[in-house]
Amino acid sequence: ETKLVKIHQIEESLEEIEEAARLIQQGEVVAFPTETVYGLGGNGLMEEAVRKIYQAKGRPSDNPLILHISDIDMIEELTEDVPDTARKAMECFWPGPMTVILKKSDKVPRCVTGGLETVAVRMPSDPTARELIRRAEVPIAAPSANTSGRPSPTKAEHVWEDLNGKIPMILDGGPVKVGVESTIIDFTVDPPVILRPGRITREELENVIGCEVQMNTSLKASDKGVPKAPGMKYKHYAPKARMILVLGSPEKTAAKINEMVCESHKLGHKAGVIATDESLGAYQADEVVSVGTRKNMETVMSGLYDVLRGFDKKDVDIIYSEGFEGEPLEEAVMNRLVKAAGHEIIRV
Ligand code: TXA
Ligand code: MG
Repeated sequence: ETKLVKIHQIEESLEEIEEAARLIQQGEVVAFPTETVYGLGGNGLMEEAVRKIYQAKGRPSDNPLILHISDIDMIEELTEDVPDTARKAMECFWPGPMTVILKKSDKVPRCVTGGLETVAVRMPSDPTARELIRRAEVPIAAPSANTSGRPSPTKAEHVWEDLNGKIPMILDGGPVKVGVESTIIDFTVDPPVILRPGRITREELENVIGCEVQMNTSLKASDKGVPKAPGMKYKHYAPKARMILVLGSPEKTAAKINEMVCESHKLGHKAGVIATDESLGAYQADEVVSVGTRKNMETVMSGLYDVLRGFDKKDVDIIYSEGFEGEPLEEAVMNRLVKAAGHEIIRV
């Protein structure tokens, strides 16, 4: 029922992208690639379309959506009071994996922002995404194109697994480049605050805007009040099996994980391990998978969700995962791993 369209070269797929853009104009929702993860897009100015997005994903409607634009000028009609810091960041990092939170204009319907006075906006760099937005001629509201609670889709197959039969069309642009969702930065406060870490790091942002940037990405029981990014309060990125994150030196981590695998086996449980290229040989478990190489954290970012989804198809009861600390981009990866593990962390 869902039409899956392969995009190899933009120039050869303009007809299909036009078809997707028309669906969006008519109030339908379509999945499309971005450089971070696949998005489930609908007309961001049309209430009916926004409702369909929430419905297809099974997402609570108080969790707001990001508006995707193809041209930096579109920011003016969607937002108000854009500070200079935000302008600098947009000029430097757009198009790219950064989402800005700004005060919303009257044009933005409340169903997009979950009732908030602020709106999230992003200009993706993926050429298919930009062509689609340009042709739809509206800002495209798009959450990640997964069923709510599952790992975000980094391949069209992932979207298909979750949404086949629920949406009319998936544009397949191949595997995404980045692999974790955009960095979200709130510019309605001073200093600005990162609400979700991503490929654009705090240091990169600070260098460009020339002021301090804070981090508020945790959701601990001790944090008072509601989380600033409402999405942070929901269970996220969860594999079906229980998952435990183990932090420490490579030797200690491997020893601890092997010990826990033994204990799992005594209980009759099958165990999986999320390792790296460097440590693949160090484990004795039922399934050992590398998420990437520690020599290049970008490989870990882009492999993460595929590995988590892969485990849902493997016959394991428990997953033990290595952690990543002290590397550039570690923040973005750890944020997802900690949530996937439901905050079950062991330090050795
Ligand atoms: O990379 C990405 O950002 C991907 C691609 C498709 O662009 N999109 C994405 O959307 O990750 P989604 O809906 O899965 O995550 C959006 C996050 C949610 O945690 C939501 O709560 C937060 O952004 N958010 C949206 N509007 C907000 C607002 N006005 N204030 C604070 N947080 C907001
Ligand atoms: Mg999401």
